[in-house]
Amino acid sequence: MEMRTLKHWLSDTFTRFRLHRVIRRAFRHDLGRYIRFSTPPSGGSAEQQGARLAAIAHGLEKSLAMNPLRPGFGIGKARMLLRLLRGYEASCPDRLDQFEYQLSIGILFHYVEFQKKCGTALPKELETFTLPGPGHGGTTVRKCGELLEAARGDFRKLAESRVSIRDFSSEPVSMEAIRDAVSLARRTPSSCNRQPGRVYAVIDPERIRKVCGLLPGFHAFGSSVDKLLLAAADTRVFSEAGERHQMWTEGGMFAMSLLYALNYLGIATCVLNWSVVPERDAEVRRILEIDEAHEILFFIALGHFKEENKVALSERRPVEEILFIR
Ligand SMILES: Cc1cc2nc3c(=O)[nH]c(=O)nc-3n(C[C@H](O)[C@H](O)[C@H](O)COP(=O)(O)O)c2cc1C
Repeated sequence: MEMRTLKHWLSDTFTRFRLHRVIRRAFRHDLGRYIRFSTPPSGGSAEQQGARLAAIAHGLEKSLAMNPLRPGFGIGKARMLLRLLRGYEASCPDRLDQFEYQLSIGILFHYVEFQKKCGTALPKELETFTLPGPGHGGTTVRKCGELLEAARGDFRKLAESRVSIRDFSSEPVSMEAIRDAVSLARRTPSSCNRQPGRVYAVIDPERIRKVCGLLPGFHAFGSSVDKLLLAAADTRVFSEAGERHQMWTEGGMFAMSLLYALNYLGIATCVLNWSVVPERDAEVRRILEIDEAHEILFFIALGHFKEENKVALSERRPVEEILFIR
């Protein structure tokens, strides 16, 4: 081998080796976090137990919406849910206002009511189950015309006009608008309705300055940012090996809804990547006091449009390249 080629080969091999070592370390870091925070097979924190309750309760709730309903279905699942609810009450007596607990107990109530109406013979613990407070969950009937009409808002216009803005006017973004957008994003579907999406609104100028200094993709910005959102997902609601990527998939879906909701409300946005190594991730966690079980997906810069907004065209691939028909 020629000397220059050999030197090039050695340098390339060394660079690859170093890169692979960093990648392995980052994956090990993620693995450790998933093992630490995902829902264990039993017990766990209030959030982890809540996720288990929500997943089982949702199984009953969606069965209640099935047509036709088989009287007597799901008794085993309902008993398991009741056992877990009692376990939750015993281990987290000060967290009985938690959303998942309230929702699950409400769903169990609807389930028991349905079975009683059908005259199903229930085990004693279900037969005597009563609801301590106002109910949540259950089913509802939505008319076809109503659903079609509601979906006919101009999504085409919204999708085709959404564009990343990197230079904002000086008008501040209101917290009301942010709350409204988060509220709309809550409608994002999630597996077993476990709702992993979380949002941090960064409004303190000093924190915004510090975070912007750590963002790998902030250099193309023409103005400072009025407010930043951090899109996150709660690892605690997922369990087992099969769900190990769901913080990213479901968190991403939630964040996309949030982005559309912000655009719908007239707020200009730009997603800012958080493609960083664990050390930088830890730095931002410290600055923003992020819950340790939340994974950071990315940031969203917020502002208002200027009268004229020069933007990158960012052309899209043709449909034929991304749609595969089998
Ligand atoms: C996950 C993600 C990370 C991004 N990171 C950055 C970033 O760091 N800096 C930036 O200026 N734009 C960033 N963007 C914006 C993209 O460049 C932009 O969405 C893409 O070019 C398409 O353009 P459009 O949003 O105007 O349609 C990011 C977008 C996504 C979805």
